[in-house]
Amino acid sequence: MLIDTHCHLDEYSHEELKQVLEHMKDHIMIVSGVNDVTNQEVMNYCNQYPNIYGVVGIHPEEVENIGENSFVLLESLLKNPKIVGIGEIGLDYHYTKGNIEIQKEVFKKQIELAKKYHKPVVVHSRDALQDTYDIIKQYKDDSIPFILHAYSGSVEMAKQFVKLGVKFGIGGVVTFKNGVKTKEVVEALPLKHFLLETDSPYLTPEPYRGQKNEPYNVIYVANKIAEIKQISVDTVIEATTENAIQVFSLPIVSRKEV
Ligand code: NI
Repeated sequence: MLIDTHCHLDEYSHEELKQVLEHMKDHIMIVSGVNDVTNQEVMNYCNQYPNIYGVVGIHPEEVENIGENSFVLLESLLKNPKIVGIGEIGLDYHYTKGNIEIQKEVFKKQIELAKKYHKPVVVHSRDALQDTYDIIKQYKDDSIPFILHAYSGSVEMAKQFVKLGVKFGIGGVVTFKNGVKTKEVVEALPLKHFLLETDSPYLTPEPYRGQKNEPYNVIYVANKIAEIKQISVDTVIEATTENAIQVFSLPIVSRKEV
């Protein structure tokens, strides 16, 4: 059984979505929200499909769009058992450095919510890894896990995060020719630190790079990790599925077959 621990379903047409769900019917998806609208949609998917779980949160690029009720909505959704984490939240300095303080404030406020509801935190960090590290270090205790989604930092930095107990979401980038850093991280660290993800509909792995991504493509991420670590793909899937079940406290028993 595959678990795509990070995907978005809001950019598919009706037909595309039917395909996505069909391909994943024996597998699990953890769908991520980024703002009020998508957070509510995540909840709707969770209610409709038994194999869909969700994480909800305010993405760093959405901090300017927070409404009065954004946190009220978040709290109400976090009470639902199918919402298995808060995310994706964090820091993104790629396009704007003008609102860093607001981003930090919103990130911290949501980590506090994660602690209140005992849910793991799915972190988005882009061009902001040191500040992300500092905030996680400040808040990290044994009560909630942190997952760095789409990790693309160095091995050295990864080892610092490991000391904080942070797990890494590995996606399509590991299959890219220029995904050198991600490959190095996969090679250097044991499987117990990794989760599989697609970030669909983005970051499509080889051999389908350029097309719209879909959750079933986690299989290509698993294949690449197996190749890098020179182990069987079954071993990769088994270990990462177990990691995902534990980190998100999913109420399912892992099965070995794919
Ligand atoms: Ni994402």
